[in-house]
Amino acid sequence: MTLDIERLGRRAEAMLDELAAISEEPDRLTRRFLTPEHKRAAHLVGRWMQEAGMVAAEDALGTVRGHYARDGEPEGANRVPRLLIGSHIDTVLNAGKYDGMLGVVAGILAVEHFRDQNQRFPFAVDVLAFGDEEGSRFPTVLSSSAATAGAFDTAWLKGVDRDGISLEKAMADYGLDTAAVGTAALTQEEALAYVEVHIEQGPVLEHGDLPLGVVTSIAGQNRTRVNVRGVAGHAGTVPMTLRQDAYLAAAEMALAAEAIAKAHPDDAMVATVGTIKVMPGAVNVIPDHVEFVLDLRAASDAPRAKALKQFIAKAEAIAAARGCSMTHDTYHDCPTAACAPWLQDGLTQSLDSLGLKAPKLVSGAGHDGQSMAKITDFAMLFVRCKGGISHNPAEFATVGDMGLAVAALIKFVEGFDPAKRG
Ligand code: GLV
Ligand code: MN
Ligand code: MN
Repeated sequence: MTLDIERLGRRAEAMLDELAAISEEPDRLTRRFLTPEHKRAAHLVGRWMQEAGMVAAEDALGTVRGHYARDGEPEGANRVPRLLIGSHIDTVLNAGKYDGMLGVVAGILAVEHFRDQNQRFPFAVDVLAFGDEEGSRFPTVLSSSAATAGAFDTAWLKGVDRDGISLEKAMADYGLDTAAVGTAALTQEEALAYVEVHIEQGPVLEHGDLPLGVVTSIAGQNRTRVNVRGVAGHAGTVPMTLRQDAYLAAAEMALAAEAIAKAHPDDAMVATVGTIKVMPGAVNVIPDHVEFVLDLRAASDAPRAKALKQFIAKAEAIAAARGCSMTHDTYHDCPTAACAPWLQDGLTQSLDSLGLKAPKLVSGAGHDGQSMAKITDFAMLFVRCKGGISHNPAEFATVGDMGLAVAALIKFVEGFDPAKRG
């Protein structure tokens, strides 16, 4: 049958608008993991899943999972092999409305289409809405998909947010049982494959005048917390040559990270210091303590590991030269994850069936597929976004491109054959 691309795109846009209205802040979109707003968004998504013909439930990490039964599946059957379609409903601070949410909405709309067409498959289809892809609240990243993949580290429960609330406490407040984390895990037999639709978050597709693209791999990533300690003093009386200013040491470290990343253009290395706390935080006091996080990414793992070592050595030298000390802790180290060729082929064929080119591209952004790769093969379909802008309220994808993405996902599921797994 012919798919109504425009209608699918409009439906996606309306759902994204509804989700974007659920925010912790009145004038901008911020929805962090395990906040009351996360819960409201999760309930809305669960309702949509049910309306689309799925049985919806929340797992031990609050991930909403909609289950579309396979052909002939008895009610309440366990361990049914399933194709997983997912993305996330948490956001960065001051976010756009597409990052993550588009993938969840695309999965729901695809299943709604199958229900409307009375289509069942020899495998079940689960749509997953993860809650901790961005790592905007706790010093964890991808913790909800890690739980789905059976790779949740209980040490993460002790990590605290900016208000000193631990992940353990936030889970309890949300109504989740930390002792039940293990129940969120899917087995390798259940998880046939994981596929995610996501905005590109970069300019490549727009530059090539292409609506959709097939991802080949996701860049690896470290997040390293650095604490620099100096000596506090009076901003008016201590001469510049006699200061042990922790902020200036941190600033020089951030510039060192920039220089290291710039020296590795072939590895697509990027370094970002996007969060920094300057203490005691008074206008007339020389800072004695600074904490920042270095986010370091590259297309392959060995140069990234080497660059991190180089950064630490350089940062220690900078601290020493300024009479400061430093400590560091890499709380996230995620290797580069390759998308499975047989699933990339499946996406390519689905784009082909829609008369679209299927350009291949690497993702510099992190995604839940990095967790899911621990239990199953995964693939990603990227959607063109305006100006390549993301993590910014100006994020934008057209109705037409979103409709094509949902149509491509529908075609992908229809052509999905687990027997093609290597
Ligand atoms: C998530 O968007 C990340 O790549 O940081
Ligand atoms: Mn995302
Ligand atoms: Mn993001």
